[in-house]
Amino acid sequence: MTEGRSCPLAYRYQPASLCADPVPVAEDVIYVIGGLYGNPFALDEIEKMALAEERQGSSVKLVFNGDFNWFNASNELFRDINNRVLKHTAILGNVDFELATPSAGAGCGCAYPEFVDQGVVERSNQIMSRLQNLAATHPDIQQRLAALPRYQCMMFGGLKVLVLHGDPESLAGWGLAYESFAAGNQGRLDEWFRESGADVIASTHTCLPVLWSGGAQGRSCVVANNGSSGMGNLSGDARGLVTRISRTASTVESVAGLISGGGIHVDLMPVDFNVSAWVERFDQLWPAGSPAAISYRKRLLEGASLSPCDLVFPSAP
Ligand SMILES: [Fe+2]
Repeated sequence: MTEGRSCPLAYRYQPASLCADPVPVAEDVIYVIGGLYGNPFALDEIEKMALAEERQGSSVKLVFNGDFNWFNASNELFRDINNRVLKHTAILGNVDFELATPSAGAGCGCAYPEFVDQGVVERSNQIMSRLQNLAATHPDIQQRLAALPRYQCMMFGGLKVLVLHGDPESLAGWGLAYESFAAGNQGRLDEWFRESGADVIASTHTCLPVLWSGGAQGRSCVVANNGSSGMGNLSGDARGLVTRISRTASTVESVAGLISGGGIHVDLMPVDFNVSAWVERFDQLWPAGSPAAISYRKRLLEGASLSPCDLVFPSAP
């Protein structure tokens, strides 16, 4: 196994098994929160967003779909992030998996594809190594992480909403990445929706957002990848994103949204956290020249390269 490039066997699962036992959801709204990456200010803002919905009469379920750890490389912040997240429904991302149960030779467990630069891969392995050393001094948190599932299917508004971290074959799969949609992945999507029986799949892991809708197996199906809730996703925009799923439209403007079969609203909602406060904390944890600073500091300040219309698939002609 090449560190950071391939994924451990324990990450693998069968699409047909993913929705075998859906859990009913009683709340009015689900936030699927992927890629918090240890950002406490983004978590503050997400809690505020949920509270604002609750004040308007809608109950909100927070579902963390992995990689809530990454930059939180201090004892205090490591405990704080995990204690706050683990009060809610959560599944494992590769980062959390490797902190709970390090896999020999997996590095960061990101399973980076070829188009990702080798320098990025090596720095991610270094970040993981530092965080693993820290996690080893918090065995109680490691145990709680190890008990988390790798995916969860929920029954919501008569639809099966499948929450996972990577794709329907692997915890760290890139099959629901922006780059996969841009290259054309309708055939695999058809298979995954047929085999899993899901109506909506909410993913993350690959750090760029996607909103896809289409017919699969005679059903109206949706994929939402929130990119990152704790880092910017769009050009010149440092805000994070979460996936909001609800029977009712949000009163706050989304970055992109659609109405699925059965009248379910699926939106990518901005997380307008305190960027300067987070960058100040980040700089203390990951000073200039550190692997996280080289790989991520610019993105924390400036976001990524996409515009909102880029992330919607199928693309407008
Ligand atoms: Fe990930």
